[in-house]
Amino acid sequence: MRRRIALTVTVLVLVAAGVAVMVARRAARQSSETAATVAAGKAIYQAQCAVCHGDRGNGKGSIAYLLSPRPRDFTRAVFKFRSTPSGELPTDADLLRTLDNGVPGTSMPSWAQLTDAERRAVIAHIKTFSNEWKERTPAAPIAIGKAPSCASLTDRGAQVYVKAGCAKCHGEGGKGDGPSSTTLKDDRGDPIRAYDFTHGGRMKGGSKLEDIYRTFSTGLSGTPMPAYQGSYPDEDLWALACFVQELGKSGAPPPAPSRELVIAREQLPPSVTPDDTIFDRATPATVLLRALYARDAAPDAAEVRAVSDGKRLAVRVEWRDSSQDARPLRIEDFRDGVALEFPLQQGEGAAERSFYGMGMHSGPVNIWHWKADWQLELSSQIAGKATAVRAGAVGNAMAAAKRSSPIEDLNAIGPGSLTPQPAAEQNVSGTGAWRDGRWRVVFVRDIETRYGGDADLRTAGKLAVAVWDGSARDRDGQKSVSEWLPYRFDGVKN
Ligand code: HEC
Ligand code: HEC
Repeated sequence: MRRRIALTVTVLVLVAAGVAVMVARRAARQSSETAATVAAGKAIYQAQCAVCHGDRGNGKGSIAYLLSPRPRDFTRAVFKFRSTPSGELPTDADLLRTLDNGVPGTSMPSWAQLTDAERRAVIAHIKTFSNEWKERTPAAPIAIGKAPSCASLTDRGAQVYVKAGCAKCHGEGGKGDGPSSTTLKDDRGDPIRAYDFTHGGRMKGGSKLEDIYRTFSTGLSGTPMPAYQGSYPDEDLWALACFVQELGKSGAPPPAPSRELVIAREQLPPSVTPDDTIFDRATPATVLLRALYARDAAPDAAEVRAVSDGKRLAVRVEWRDSSQDARPLRIEDFRDGVALEFPLQQGEGAAERSFYGMGMHSGPVNIWHWKADWQLELSSQIAGKATAVRAGAVGNAMAAAKRSSPIEDLNAIGPGSLTPQPAAEQNVSGTGAWRDGRWRVVFVRDIETRYGGDADLRTAGKLAVAVWDGSARDRDGQKSVSEWLPYRFDGVKN
């Protein structure tokens, strides 16, 4: 009997020892995997994220000064979009969701083009910026049941909305204009706006019913948006989500981005105008625009159409802008503008993957910048009214006198490196027209050029769009930008 016990104990000890070795091996393997993952994540982070979030994750990247809201400071380990209770760290699934969707209405783009492994690696790197990730583990996500049918719940949701005091910040009609809305600040002291629910389908935390339920249940840490989990019966909370989603249906639905721009093959007239019917025969492509400095009424999309006869390329960009701003001569006036940007090195590669450039980042780029005031100056010159240009703007008028196009042809290799091409190489022509709250601007250039700084238009490539709204005080880096839009010539496979 005693021997049997001794034997059993020995066996158990051996088994335990074996298990311990296995566990230790697995841990070693995991930690070396983790080190490699973090290193890969660091490389992605430095290339794609640091320009906004900063090399050291403190939110102070080189273009952060242009951005509102400011990029997240990862050293503080405070995250808005969580399935975990208020004040807790997010789960990896939460962070992956944020990378997939980006943060709509802000400069934070979607990173859906990274592979799953790349996204996980960059998340591992983000976690190195704060010890919180070593000291704590994310709490369990809150339970989110199955979303009910909203048919009979919306009215009840409207009552909960009033009872819970949502209107205090979000306003009675949900337009983000409640009595407290003008005084709200986030925990870094920056002004913050309560979401306008009538602007449906563009919620930062996601716009599906489950997303809305999760967002107001767990709250948005670091902002005045409270967590309502447990404050009301579950059915009331679902009813609230139904009501909030319903409010979103009153406005225009979010635009859907196109995957590519197909350049139609058409005869081009000698001078192409914005309303030319050749553009009616080209398939429109939609690019989403992100206002780097978030505000109401920023254009959220632009339509791009392109036509080529094999010798020249004509691209038309159209976007919504309720006012026509072309008077740059007074300091307080800002002008409307639009730019197309082409990477100089097309083809696959790390620089290609970078989301958008506008000389912010990525490799060298060629930028065609149409300026409403340049066009006005040109047209007044043509009408012989150059002398009517206000006194004090003589320098401006002189510069304008040398111009033959309202479009400036530039190069850039990063923030602050914008350089106009030499006068002899200014070879982009075009014109813009504003009507009924929309700008249409045409850019035309020869396909073949001799200058090394010119975009190579002979084959398929990518372009990005930027838009400046003068009445919203946009200028220089303060603008709305798109991500890269791949283009190809009709009938030609990449
Ligand atoms: C163009 C600037 C920009 C770039 C580039 C950028 N971000 Fe962001 N990011 C932001 C801004 C701005 C916010 C804050 C949005 C807000 O508070 O509503 C943000 C927020 C975040 C958050 C916080 C989500 C939360 O729950 O609070 C994460 C995580 C994040 N970014 C990860 C990344 C990663 C990873 C990359 C690179 C792959 C990246 N970002 C690149 C601007 C950027
Ligand atoms: C004290 C002010 C305040 C109150 C009260 C408040 N909110 Fe908010 N809410 C905010 C702010 C500020 C934001 C925007 C946070 C951001 O953009 O980072 C927000 C954002 C949201 C969002 C997220 C939208 C998105 O972009 O994902 C939802 C959903 C929401 N609130 C629902 C509610 C509901 C429902 C109630 C009432 C139960 C409520 N809020 C009460 C201030 C408030």
